[in-house]
Amino acid sequence: MDDHKPIDTPDGPAVETPGTGARRYDAPPTDRPITEAEAAKAAGLAHNEHLKIASGYLRGGLADGLLKHATGAISEDDGQLVKFHGMYMQDDRDIRAERTKKKLEKAFSFMIRLRIAGGVVTPKQWLALDEIATTYANGTLRATTRQTFQYHGVIKSNLKRTMAAIDAVLLDTIAACGDVNRNVMAATNPAQAGAHKAAYQLAKDISDSLLPKTNAWREIWLDGERVVGGEEEFEPVYGKTYLPRKFKTVVAVPPSNEVDIFAHDLGFIAILDKKNRVTGWNVTVGGGMGMTHGEPDTFPRTADVMGFCKPEDALKVAEAVMTVQRDWGNRKNRKNARLKYTIERFGVDAFRTEVETRIGKKLGEPKPYRFDGNGDRYGWVEGDDGRHHLTLYVPSGRIKDVEGGPQFLTGLRRIAQVHEGDFRLTGNQNVIIANVPSEKRAAIEALVDEHAMTKGAGALRRNSMACVALPTCGLALAESERYLPDLLSELEESLASHGLQDDEITIRSTGCPNGCARPFISEIGLVGRGPERYHLYLGAAFDGSRLSKLYREDVTAGEIRTVLDPLFAAYARDRQAGERFGDFVIRAGFVAKTTNGPDFHERTGPLKSA
Ligand code: HEM
Ligand code: SF4
Repeated sequence: MDDHKPIDTPDGPAVETPGTGARRYDAPPTDRPITEAEAAKAAGLAHNEHLKIASGYLRGGLADGLLKHATGAISEDDGQLVKFHGMYMQDDRDIRAERTKKKLEKAFSFMIRLRIAGGVVTPKQWLALDEIATTYANGTLRATTRQTFQYHGVIKSNLKRTMAAIDAVLLDTIAACGDVNRNVMAATNPAQAGAHKAAYQLAKDISDSLLPKTNAWREIWLDGERVVGGEEEFEPVYGKTYLPRKFKTVVAVPPSNEVDIFAHDLGFIAILDKKNRVTGWNVTVGGGMGMTHGEPDTFPRTADVMGFCKPEDALKVAEAVMTVQRDWGNRKNRKNARLKYTIERFGVDAFRTEVETRIGKKLGEPKPYRFDGNGDRYGWVEGDDGRHHLTLYVPSGRIKDVEGGPQFLTGLRRIAQVHEGDFRLTGNQNVIIANVPSEKRAAIEALVDEHAMTKGAGALRRNSMACVALPTCGLALAESERYLPDLLSELEESLASHGLQDDEITIRSTGCPNGCARPFISEIGLVGRGPERYHLYLGAAFDGSRLSKLYREDVTAGEIRTVLDPLFAAYARDRQAGERFGDFVIRAGFVAKTTNGPDFHERTGPLKSA
């Protein structure tokens, strides 16, 4: 790869304001022209910025690295690039210490994430994905919190075979991770067939139009031809440096906020007429979850509703929002690079004006809308088109067979063999068997029962979510997916003792503050601090529109029930009619209300202790 290219060769739309800064550097250190990557480094841009420039449109040393059979790993820099191809290099942390003691390399493997706009797959695709899980991965499929699947435990020598099998059913993993527009989510809304269709179509169109154009994925994983001359390849929207950071887009259909629109960079809220037809979209910008413990300049933020657009303008708006962030986002500090910080820095009005300039028209005033929750609706639902849809509760989205318990892997395989509709993943890690004709309903129901698959759970459990965390996630500070089920059992006992067993309360847990299961927007949020230690957050809104606040620091796993029990008691005793737990803890003075990102860390008191 030749990255010795003069710096004044922009490969896309001009990048001016805060931008890459590469062209501002004008003192080459040697007599050859300075490379773009060197210029980026000299300008103080983040390491990933020069990496992207020097990667030849996301190729880096990946092809060569795959041929190095003496190690199960790839280089650190390629580890950053491989994210753009939908993969994370990981190691089994349960056996890390033991292997180090034996002077063995870590047990490296790869997490592979698919790109499935709106989370819709056909039965044929389901069967293929299942087979890949059992042939190349750890025998499980994980439905993620952003409507797609992940595999865990794929070793380096199986990566290309896995990608070929994914490609064979017309799916891919392009842009599932990395500094790009990631998997686009869409409301599943089984009851609103027409609106779902429009939401799905918009999600699919955005996903397709904002997809990186580089041929690197096909070339590296499928031994595809190098279509264009590598360095000269053209990324018309992204340019060589792609985005400053990840970018997440969702499409919601009220009254359900199952996609958690306020936690995402860009969102579209369907505005419906009386016949459930979409008349346009409210546009949201600047939501995000991740933060770093002890760094108050980093915070989660709920998105702002920026305006309204007509259906025919939505795609243009999506591209404009993304390109303003491409050009205005912070490329020096990755911890400050998400759109939420760009919006904080420039203000939503300046941001809107720039978007309007790029689309060549004004956005309308936001239209009224109402969300009633961010959970799923379990069990059978009949859509307004007469088709039937069954939402199953999949604990932590892990599709596997549990001895003596639910057989999701086998059961859904059996269903995929006879099902004529499709499957939909929800943003709450659940699975919908969708578009079942009336006459097939009984057969599907029988298979669900035969494999003990759950059509629901207790009120707290069905509103729960956990990220993967240990043993695969390299960033996890504490357990999440593996400990949440036991914690839920304890809390269910506590709630039942106060007569609250049927009250819907959202609870989410993550192994670190990156927030992959969106814990800061859940009424009870647990965020890992260290082994068996969590920060406990309270006071988010049930409909996902308000962030929570830190209630207790460093609660040990064993103390969580004891800390929450008096709050449940107070809620049962003192709540007002219809009052949600998240609203109650604020009114009762246990936590202050968070109004948006920057005041997330403010702990204004006097706050009561339960
Ligand atoms: C700085 C921020 C973040 C970093 C560095 C990060 C990194 C990671 C890593 C390493 C994993 C793989 C874990 C595994 O499967 O073993 C993961 C999973 C995942 N992350 Fe993140 N993440 C961040 C924030 C977020 C946020 C805010 C969301 C959602 C809004 C999100 C959505 C997901 C999803 C859907 C998964 C798949 C597994 C699951 O459903 O739990 N991530 N993330
Ligand atoms: S929240 Fe943290 S621990 Fe959980 S999957 Fe995301 S990065 Fe890993």
